[in-house]
Amino acid sequence: MSTFINGLPKVELHLHIEGTLEPEMVFALAGRNGITLDYADERALKAAYDFKDLQSFLDVYYQGMQVLLTEQDFFDMTWAYLERAHAEQVRHSEIFFDPQAHTDRGVPLAAVIGGIHRALEQARQQWGLTSRLIMSFLRHLPEESAFETLHHAEPFRHQLSGIGLDSAEKGNPPTKFTHVYAAAREQGFRLVAHAGEEGPAQYIRDALDILRVERIDHGVAAAGDRHLVERLARERVPLTVCPLSNLKLRVVERMSEHPMLRLLHAGVCVTVNSDDPAYFGGYMNANYQALQDGLGATDGELLQMALNSVEACWLSPEEKAVLA
Ligand code: HPA
Ligand code: ZN
Repeated sequence: MSTFINGLPKVELHLHIEGTLEPEMVFALAGRNGITLDYADERALKAAYDFKDLQSFLDVYYQGMQVLLTEQDFFDMTWAYLERAHAEQVRHSEIFFDPQAHTDRGVPLAAVIGGIHRALEQARQQWGLTSRLIMSFLRHLPEESAFETLHHAEPFRHQLSGIGLDSAEKGNPPTKFTHVYAAAREQGFRLVAHAGEEGPAQYIRDALDILRVERIDHGVAAAGDRHLVERLARERVPLTVCPLSNLKLRVVERMSEHPMLRLLHAGVCVTVNSDDPAYFGGYMNANYQALQDGLGATDGELLQMALNSVEACWLSPEEKAVLA
């Protein structure tokens, strides 16, 4: 591991907290909650981490998170992530969670948000590691379900900063969620959406123009569309790119083909993130390292992307000044 990367203070903007569930914790929580998994042991579970696309990952991801039942489970998962983030010099993290994946199993939203938030608060007090929480709608479900979730989240409004959109992208375009995004905007939520991971560049345009998001999660499909790249650069729309995720889900065949540095040099506000680090082979440092090893990124380029994350995050200007 490069000492420059390890020492670099980092901001994470694209992390699914359920994607930090390491196999060891999946089995520990299964034991604690009396749940029998489809996999005999950790090795068998890890053997399933050979993904061919986004859907093949999502199938394993939704199974893994079924071990989460209580407020304490959500605390323990979040705390384990925060310990790793702190050890890797992550100073601020904006974190997604998938409420519908839990409430649809009968887990109360209060247990989900309560456990995650308690861990975030403890990390802030103990280490000064700050965070924001982003409630993400599952795009394979109908817009009506997202509306119900938005409504159920009203008592927790003060613990939530933003709204996101994730899960199976193809066939579930941003336009499916036009009305619920408008309602969330009315309530003062900040807005982001996954777009252009497996879906086309048009989904990125629609997320910007119809959902009116301020950041795009992934967005790598923009690289094939010169006019869109020019627009993203001109408007400084941040892209929260996840290199190891893109490799594991075969969005790119080889890291050397990743468009991240081309986008950076075109003036786009690209940032480095870990997405689902327990499933994709590494946390923040590993993602920066993959760009150095696989793409030949220089320390200067890595620093520029780290500074882009400070620019793109939701801290106040005063808090950002301390980070940068
Ligand atoms: N893409 C879409 N949905 C997701 C992802 C992702 O990379 N990770 C968790 N949910
Ligand atoms: Zn993601």
